[in-house]
Amino acid sequence: MSQRRRIPGLFAPLLLVVAAGATSLGTPASAAEPAARARPLSQVVPAPASVSEGGPSYALTPRTRIRVDDDSREARRIGSYLADVLRPSTGYDLPVTARDARDGIRLRLGSKDASLGDEGYRLESGRHGVTITARRAAGLFHGVQTLRQLLPAAVEEDTRQRGPWTVAGGTIKDMPRYGYRGAMLDVSRHFFSVDKVKTYIDQMALYKINKLHLHLSDDQGWRIAIDSWPRLTTYGGSTQVGGGPGGYYTKADYREILRYAASRHLEVVPEIDLPGHTNAALASYAELNCDGVAPPLYTGTNVGFSSLCVPKAVTYEFVDDVVREIAAMTPGKYLHIGGDEAHSTPHKDYVAFMDKAQAVVGKYGKTVMGWHQLTGAEPAEGAVAQYWGLDKTSATEKAQVANAARNGTKLVLSPADRAYLDMKYDKSTPLGLAWAGYVEVRRSYDWNPGAYLPGAPAQSVLGVEAPMWSETLWTNDQVEYMAFPRLPGIAELGWSPAATHDWDAYKVRLAAQGPRMSALGIDYYRSPQVPWPAE
Ligand code: ACM
Repeated sequence: MSQRRRIPGLFAPLLLVVAAGATSLGTPASAAEPAARARPLSQVVPAPASVSEGGPSYALTPRTRIRVDDDSREARRIGSYLADVLRPSTGYDLPVTARDARDGIRLRLGSKDASLGDEGYRLESGRHGVTITARRAAGLFHGVQTLRQLLPAAVEEDTRQRGPWTVAGGTIKDMPRYGYRGAMLDVSRHFFSVDKVKTYIDQMALYKINKLHLHLSDDQGWRIAIDSWPRLTTYGGSTQVGGGPGGYYTKADYREILRYAASRHLEVVPEIDLPGHTNAALASYAELNCDGVAPPLYTGTNVGFSSLCVPKAVTYEFVDDVVREIAAMTPGKYLHIGGDEAHSTPHKDYVAFMDKAQAVVGKYGKTVMGWHQLTGAEPAEGAVAQYWGLDKTSATEKAQVANAARNGTKLVLSPADRAYLDMKYDKSTPLGLAWAGYVEVRRSYDWNPGAYLPGAPAQSVLGVEAPMWSETLWTNDQVEYMAFPRLPGIAELGWSPAATHDWDAYKVRLAAQGPRMSALGIDYYRSPQVPWPAE
């Protein structure tokens, strides 16, 4: 397993290939945990809402079955997902069956406990097995993520390991604090293939993240095919930061991401950043520019220099076509229209533009999301503003957002000096940026979304999101090094009751994730703030 712990933060893809190659020599068995001692039910990340420990434990055996109700395709699908996780490391058959079995793992939908909501679950573990019950498939899926963490870390290895595979006895009843628990991936500054996105989706799902926000367009690249404006991708998607080849998602690619995200119970939130951050579009179509001249493609990392031409009618044909085509493909509720850093759009034009663009989103049946600069215009009814300010953001700007929240705008919190996963951990971090300061693991975790923005009502907060901007990142290894272990902390802020919030307890639970992340091949940052066990 130790070979899996790759040298962190490598820039050079070649070196990564060499290091990844070493994993095939992987040493057997996890030496990290005393195998026979079951992990306490309370040691899960995110912290469960309530835990009652005690009673006999359950150990998987070669005869263990995963039992689902006869009539539930969703439970069967989740059972197969669980079997796929457990089979390689245990070497057990783990058939997914509707046949009655005395022992085993039981996945049940149809709980009558309304307090579980759409995403909650109940997990009971005892001598004869583990039963996870939920009202909806998402709850069952989250319960399965918890069960993974109750098993030894080596269960996540993809080759056969020694057991025993013991789950402590007791009961967990668990449901989220917030319905919006997101992670964003910027696929514009550097393009990420469908497979890379799937890898990140699987990692998000481990910690019960339920929204994948894709930043699909920016100055450096347009990444989603729009049939009515084909040059957006064929030309506007043809490069990236530093001048590499770029890339884009065909509609089939995007649908595959949607399908895969849905299979992990994540909703995709597509973002087309408007009216700034639009150089890739402006370069692709001269008529979108006020002077009718297309600028060159852009491969640097400046912001704030591009703007759609607010007075031109063609701008709104463009916005209508783009929003219509994306809305038609996207089953989720939200369509994010950016609105940040429109420094080249006069304020009056910005307000006029955001009015029109929000109306188009509404026309195609979606709920508007925008970065919090949207509150400097007139947020549409039901709009969601994504706050990305810092501690040092001016009181005036914070008050503008809080005021909108008091007037009905909902908030998703992504404070850049807490939740931006591309910020360096400290001065030695080889990847990422530092314009919002260094964000160590404790700083990232130690804030309360419900009472964060002064004057914003607690009920205005839909949840949290951890954005990953990709100016300096293009491989999964790099993304993992920046996301882990901060993403589990943001996930916990979104899921766990405020009463469980405690850095000293959290850092111990997080430390126990170290061997698990290693077993999963996640190249995480070994923060000195966390008492990681020796691996
Ligand atoms: C942002 O970081 N410009 C939303």
